[in-house]
Amino acid sequence: MGQSSLSSDSKTFYNFQAHPTALQRDENGTWHVRGYAEAKAILLGDTTQAGFSAELVKQMPLKIQQPVLFQAGAEHREQRAQIAKFFTPTFTQQQHAALMEKYADAIVDEFVRAGGGDLNKMTARMALAVAADVMGLTNSNRAHMARRLDTILHADMNFSAKSVQGIVRYVNVQWNMLLFYLFDVRPAIQFRKRAPQSDVISHLLAKGRSGTEILIECITYGAAGMVTTQEFICLATWQMLEHDALRQEFLRGDAETRYRILHELLRLDPVVAHLLRRAASDLCVPSGGATVTIPRGALIDLHLNEINADARAAGAEPLHLNSHRALEKSVPRSLMGFGAGPHRCVGEFIALAESDIFLQRLMRINTLKLVQAPKIQRNETIKGYELRELMLSV
Ligand code: HEM
Repeated sequence: MGQSSLSSDSKTFYNFQAHPTALQRDENGTWHVRGYAEAKAILLGDTTQAGFSAELVKQMPLKIQQPVLFQAGAEHREQRAQIAKFFTPTFTQQQHAALMEKYADAIVDEFVRAGGGDLNKMTARMALAVAADVMGLTNSNRAHMARRLDTILHADMNFSAKSVQGIVRYVNVQWNMLLFYLFDVRPAIQFRKRAPQSDVISHLLAKGRSGTEILIECITYGAAGMVTTQEFICLATWQMLEHDALRQEFLRGDAETRYRILHELLRLDPVVAHLLRRAASDLCVPSGGATVTIPRGALIDLHLNEINADARAAGAEPLHLNSHRALEKSVPRSLMGFGAGPHRCVGEFIALAESDIFLQRLMRINTLKLVQAPKIQRNETIKGYELRELMLSV
């Protein structure tokens, strides 16, 4: 816990120093990026994915088509163009908004009846329900699926150690993946073979993807779409409960005001805190009036907390919350909170819509109180925070 991201007398839970060096190579040859323009140039350049357990995905048999997050070039462009229709604001509104409202009503009502509870458990239910609908995982028991997916998404993926523990971890994850496939993914596939729907699994089936490929894609969406939104709603709740003026602005504001607040909160505390890439060829990156060459094969670590606080892009007082900050047209309001370049988050509109819907219902409860600030943990798959045991009362 440390320095403020909201105002000079408030706190954010990330304790970092805005680094003067936008681009820096460490003694192991890894490049660290802390400048917005430099990060954008790299993400638009010739790189491959090195985050989200990419090394594990590389161990998959060659004939298996990689999930969207790990594809590159023409194959990736084609896949993104084909799935784009499931993620537009209009499709989100027409297909998902009513269900999001129904889920949020049920979860918040239950919470009120119980007199409070652990917010992270509530947001897990919300995020799982929405991500499952988007994927088309609708033919199994949601609560059981949540448990199976949670075990996979929070597993310790460090299998490299040639130890008994490493093997046990590996077998455990494989076992849970098998259960997730048999009880959740396979029934969804079987149903959609008979009756295709407007969802990602139906699309993958139409493209001839195998059961294993669909399983891996579902896990990717679970990490990229579910864990992230679960944690983001917790972060936004925590900040609004700590800062009543922000909560009131959110509650009184129109959709544009509310979305600006959500973007600004994500800019200050990005859920995915590091993006990792490997240079696929020599990368020439303009920085500070010179051109720096990152050699082919080098690992690149993009530090999103610092990148989002780069005053050259975020403007004055970059560590303070200001949902009306003046930004250049080309700079998204959350800067790199949703990434940039070809792999920029496909689920941004879904994430914002579900967060907005859930938070409106929760924040409206007058007697809502923070009982216990959350324990801050780290999720190694998304390289970001997890806010555990965020206890609220009503
Ligand atoms: C607040 C919530 C969210 C945040 C902060 C977030 C953040 C991100 C970021 C930073 C990336 C870029 C990863 C990279 O470049 O390596 C990404 C990619 C992605 N996100 Fe999100 N995300 C969120 C919600 C969602 C949702 C709700 C979905 C879908 C249901 C989703 C699906 C994806 C997918 C499929 C990718 C990979 C896109 C590609 O590789 O082309 N995300 N997300």
